[in-house]
Amino acid sequence: MAVQISPSILSADFARLADEAARVPNADWLHVDVMDNHFVPNLTIGLPVVEALLKATSTPIDCHLMIEDPDRWAPAYAEVGAGSVTIHAEAAKAPVRTLRQIRAVGARSGFALNPSTAVEQYEDLLPEIDMLLLMTVEPGFGGQKFLDVVLPKIRRARELIARYGGEVWLQVDGGVAADTIERCAEAGADVFVAGSAVYGAADPSAAIDHLRELATT
Ligand code: DX5
Ligand code: ZN
Repeated sequence: MAVQISPSILSADFARLADEAARVPNADWLHVDVMDNHFVPNLTIGLPVVEALLKATSTPIDCHLMIEDPDRWAPAYAEVGAGSVTIHAEAAKAPVRTLRQIRAVGARSGFALNPSTAVEQYEDLLPEIDMLLLMTVEPGFGGQKFLDVVLPKIRRARELIARYGGEVWLQVDGGVAADTIERCAEAGADVFVAGSAVYGAADPSAAIDHLRELATT
């Protein structure tokens, strides 16, 4: 699958989200980090802002739910029109049901693992998952340092997906930048979230082109 870049608006200016979305016309997705101050020690935005953003941009929205009780809240993000909705393995109590509910309303189902969560235990869930997200930092904040210890897990996840044989995108999120993206791509990732590396750049759109080129070659 072609490389996809999903800039995280966590590093954008929250007071000007529509303008910030317009600065990245070459993004494949806009990554929206929903945090609830419980699953992670940070509070960001929720459903009303996602709805407003959907009206303000034609770029599909990739919702990353870092919240407790995603089984209760995730389907609503799909219903309002997010193209992809990702729930965390560590928070979901009925992941199969929730992943199916996300798909049932036409969104892509995403399943995220924190750095210390093993991927092997979820091999049987791959048929329910359109995108597996491997966190390459502890979730909660942008601008953290990429965790190299996750690289072998990216490789193993890619092997499990190959063995399963279906199409599952493999996303990495956290510390993905010009100096780390090639290692992620080489290990088998194909969807790259980048917050500070895109919105911290003088020209976010050029930063996306550069990241895409590094991940492709
Ligand atoms: C962190 C979020 C990330 C964050 C990444 O918990 O899930 O999406 O925005 O930011 P950078 O790319 O700056 O590490
Ligand atoms: Zn994220």
